[in-house]
Amino acid sequence: MLPAYLPNPVAALFGGGTPVDGGRNFSDGKRIFGDGKTFRGLFLGILAGIGIGLLQIWLSGAYGLENFPEHTFVSVTLLATGALFGDLCKSFFKRRFGKERGTKWPVADQYDFVAGALLLTLMVDPSWILANMTLSVFILILILTPVLHRTVNIIGYYLGVKEVPW
Ligand code: CTP
Ligand code: MG
Repeated sequence: MLPAYLPNPVAALFGGGTPVDGGRNFSDGKRIFGDGKTFRGLFLGILAGIGIGLLQIWLSGAYGLENFPEHTFVSVTLLATGALFGDLCKSFFKRRFGKERGTKWPVADQYDFVAGALLLTLMVDPSWILANMTLSVFILILILTPVLHRTVNIIGYYLGVKEVPW
């Protein structure tokens, strides 16, 4: 799941600049996505997710880590892209519910990238999901994701990268 987990922290570290919505509002008068979703974050985050995935592919080839899920360029690209598109979709609905950028939205904030990553992969490369997503792996992801999310955000907060510790 690293290709799905890495894009968000990388976007938080290196994102910024032009927002994806170009500062425009939706028909409800609120921002489409908000200033927290930028092209640079999207681009660098996806690139980092693909990069770590390619490293995993190389490592499993070099060291024969056959207990790990078998990744391909397609699967890591889908996980990384899906993660940040999930995050983007989340922000779209977050704005529709009138929640400002950076405010807390429990559950959605924690699972947006996992949902996006797994759904995009399921749609484009279902065989990867069928081959790798057992019930126990899925339950482990559901348990680990909020713990990791919270831990990384607290670290980001103390590093001064994130304005809020969630
Ligand atoms: N970020 C970015 N581009 C993205 C996603 C994230 O530049 N596509 C950066 C932004 O600086 C953002 C930070 O990463 O503030 C943290 O991301 P996140 O918590 O997802 O955004 P929020 O600012 O909390 O905005 P939202 O309320 O829309 O979730
Ligand atoms: Mg947030």
